[in-house]
Amino acid sequence: MIHYNPNTRTFNLLGSQSHYAMMVDGDGRLIHLAWGPTPNPLSGHNRFAPPGQSSFEFQGQRDELPAYGPISVHEVALKASFLKAPAALSAGEALYRPIRDVRLAYTGHEIEENAQLPTSSSSFRTPHSTLRISLTDSLQPLTVTLCYRLFPAHDIIERWCTLTNTGPDPIRIEKLAFAALHLPPGSNEVTTVHGAWGAEFTTQRHTLPVGSFNIGHRSVQTGHAFNPFFLANRPGHATETSGPVYFGALAFSGAWLLTFEHQHSGDMRVFGGYNPFDFELILQPGQTHTTPAFVCGVSGEGWGGASRRLHAFTRDAVLPNAAPRPVLYNSWEATYFALSHEGQAALARKAAAIGVELFVVDDGWFGGRRSPLSGLGDWTVSPEVFPNGLQPLIDEVHALGMQFGLWFEPEMVNPDSDLYRQHPDWVLHFPGRPRTEARMQLVLDYGRDEVIEYIFSALDALLSTHDIDFIKWDMNRNVTEPGSVTGKAIWRAHTAGVYRLMDRLRQKYPNLSLQSCSGGGGRVDLGILRRVDQVWTSDNTDALDRLGIQEGFSLAYPARIMEAWVTHEKNHQTGRVLDLSTRFDVAMRGALGIGSDLNALGDEELKEYASYIAFYKRFRHVVQDGDLYRLETLAEHGASTLLYVLPDQSEAVYSVAVHDHLIGRHRPPARLCGLNSTAVYTITDRHERAIAHLSGADLMAQGIPGDTYGPAGYSRTLHLKIVK
Ligand code: DGJ
Repeated sequence: MIHYNPNTRTFNLLGSQSHYAMMVDGDGRLIHLAWGPTPNPLSGHNRFAPPGQSSFEFQGQRDELPAYGPISVHEVALKASFLKAPAALSAGEALYRPIRDVRLAYTGHEIEENAQLPTSSSSFRTPHSTLRISLTDSLQPLTVTLCYRLFPAHDIIERWCTLTNTGPDPIRIEKLAFAALHLPPGSNEVTTVHGAWGAEFTTQRHTLPVGSFNIGHRSVQTGHAFNPFFLANRPGHATETSGPVYFGALAFSGAWLLTFEHQHSGDMRVFGGYNPFDFELILQPGQTHTTPAFVCGVSGEGWGGASRRLHAFTRDAVLPNAAPRPVLYNSWEATYFALSHEGQAALARKAAAIGVELFVVDDGWFGGRRSPLSGLGDWTVSPEVFPNGLQPLIDEVHALGMQFGLWFEPEMVNPDSDLYRQHPDWVLHFPGRPRTEARMQLVLDYGRDEVIEYIFSALDALLSTHDIDFIKWDMNRNVTEPGSVTGKAIWRAHTAGVYRLMDRLRQKYPNLSLQSCSGGGGRVDLGILRRVDQVWTSDNTDALDRLGIQEGFSLAYPARIMEAWVTHEKNHQTGRVLDLSTRFDVAMRGALGIGSDLNALGDEELKEYASYIAFYKRFRHVVQDGDLYRLETLAEHGASTLLYVLPDQSEAVYSVAVHDHLIGRHRPPARLCGLNSTAVYTITDRHERAIAHLSGADLMAQGIPGDTYGPAGYSRTLHLKIVK
């Protein structure tokens, strides 16, 4: 519920277990008051008196959107240049241009209940209300509207702002965060993830010193190096299961930056928005710019509670639909570029026989793409690979009872391609300068409408003539030489173009599903998740490496979107040999996929695959729609133990996997969480053997019997169900 008190000019945003408050002060400034779990939100503005008295500190108050103007030397969310002064200036005064201060004051607000959300999905699965507060500059023609969409069930607020130029001259915006978050003083223990190709989502937790800490990316995808989310708390005041934890995540897949500013006063502010590097936004007269959202929230139940809120919010208010994610087969690691109709059909027959529901043909099916050297951009089926076209394979896959999926990389072109030969000017470049290739490819200039139109037509031509159910949308390099017809706006225009294309495809083909991939997990964020059904988490499919990758991923993102494949016994990325049980137990923690060469497997092993897939199908609704409890994280005892519990507590899935064999050290049993304490759960294994009947209370006190020890690679998955 959102409430405004006109007497005190105070706004209160009341979540089911949280409270956010702000007020309009005597000067019309919108000031942050408090935010935290109820009943005692923590960030009371008088807790640390603003320094105020010092001549060096003009701005002790916490403006909801700190703008460069009447402010101290601290970080700002907005900086603008007014290229023309509002009134005629004398020749001497004109030397002072451009005017570079913004002074925002409250001019009004509106509250709207359950408005349509900006997404391709037809219906929303959770109540929400939206508050829009208008602030106008007292001297310059700029209006900024701060928007707060509250999802009370999740204790989450989606925040963004719109900027409108109400004057006759352009305004240059030089820095813009989607929102600034004021955390309670001292909340300087911050959890984020970092990584690289094959090593995404590595968790780091640090106590920040006084100063600024930045994570971000400077390309046109989210990136492998960092992911745009954080958890923060007061050091020593939070655990996996307890304590107030604040969190935020950007809904944007372009060049982004999160800045954590820990001030000498103890104040902690988090700015999330456009990466200011090479940033420029020219607001033309009458123009409005709407930023993407910075989603934020607070949990009173530790890091685990923060993750569960983000997961539920993403399932209910972000993802395009709630249908179960199918068991997928992807032929990449089985055949790489060696594609043929017969080879893929043989794999499809085996995949169907073991229970796969979606068969995906990866890279290499089009144009001259027989290796990474050539063909990107030429999106027509290669007669060399499929002499009778692709439809016969699609028909066969459908006849086997599976959906059909196909790989694309729509933002790229190989210089050795017909597209590039025809349109060498369609790529990002600076005229007369070298065009840096990465994986032998260049990035198309999505600032050009004709490029977007061409790519849409190419994809549309295939989708309208073939029964394609699923697209794997890949993106395999960072941007260099960002020269575009749109100038510096390309940093936003590219992402807007990708979103527009995806939205258009989904609209025209409502049954089409999309997967976001960028060389693995390089494009995962709440912006792309409005448009895709799942993501490829990492090209690293080694189950033990995956434990850390998936744990970091789980801090922000739900299991239903986390594609996880079982691949070869000897892993192609690491060379490590792992049992089938470990590979399945780890992959079954997300949206299960298979990537092994099924033609190389014997009948016995195929039967084992089939048995695991059947097991997964029995409980996948719990993994994909349940609440996740990280009972044990890798940092504790070198093991990862997870529990997924359906919201009505009737079923749960328990999954343990040991990463490090700690000889001579005791690993205490992982106690379960979130169960119905008085009900009795029957615990079954893959073979549907009941291994125990225990009450929720017993399981929460003692854990699963016998699961206290195991060597590296030891793993186990169990299904718990209340039997009436
Ligand atoms: C990178 C992806 O992450 C892989 O799964 C595969 O699709 C290759 N690209 C194909 O080029």
